[in-house]
Amino acid sequence: MLKAIELSKTYKSGTDEYRALNGVSVEIADDDCLAIVGKSGSGKSTLMHLLACLDAPTEGRITFDGEDVTTFSNHRLNRFRNEKFGFIFQQFYLNGRDSVIENVVLPLKIRGIGAAERRDKGLEYLRAVGLADKAQKAAKDLSGGEKQRVCIARALAGEPKIIFADEPTGNLDSVTGGMVEETLFRLNREQGIALVIVTHDDELAAKCARRIELRDGEVVAAR
Ligand SMILES: Nc1ncnc2c1ncn2[C@@H]1O[C@H](COP(=O)(O)OP(=O)(O)OP(=O)(O)O)[C@@H](O)[C@H]1O
Ligand SMILES: [Mg+2]
Repeated sequence: MLKAIELSKTYKSGTDEYRALNGVSVEIADDDCLAIVGKSGSGKSTLMHLLACLDAPTEGRITFDGEDVTTFSNHRLNRFRNEKFGFIFQQFYLNGRDSVIENVVLPLKIRGIGAAERRDKGLEYLRAVGLADKAQKAAKDLSGGEKQRVCIARALAGEPKIIFADEPTGNLDSVTGGMVEETLFRLNREQGIALVIVTHDDELAAKCARRIELRDGEVVAAR
């Protein structure tokens, strides 16, 4: 589905240049489950941002179902990303004062879907992450693990082909993190949504079907 060919990324600030990624190729199949591991600063988040088309590579190409994404206009790229990808980050990026369900249905609102359908679908996605009973609570009043599961429900609302998760359990204790992991893996198994998980956590990586390890911006191991 997604193919990245010889990706490199050089960050420039003033006269300083830093090559964070150097010639990395990755393929993500339809119901893949891929962990990206490596030490801090090895280029994991950089690679994920490129794969998710949140940032453009300095060199290399990314194709999705055979189409070269790097040639898309900004407008087309934004639409493509909203349609195909879901995101989960270490920070939750929820609107704390809004209710849980309002946060979840935001992608549907952006797509112009009406209030009644938004409500039904929002509840369905909250059920999928075990939080239907918290729909009307303010998002800020949830626990960390619950907030992260709201983020997963919001990602689901976009009906993504791939969910990209950057340290999704990094801010959670092990029990809560385990619930978040279980939710992600279940969606991968039952709905065939591909997962790309960036993590420091070897145990989490071991639960993924495949892993690539980065060191200094290069792939040093893959399985
Ligand atoms: N916007 C930026 N401008 C300049 N340098 C950057 C930028 N983003 C990342 N870098 C540098 O690129 C390298 C790789 O960063 P990246 O965030 O991909 O690492 P990481 O593997 O995700 O690390 P961590 O595990 O700490 O999140 C680091 O040395 C970082 O300082
Ligand atoms: Mg990172």
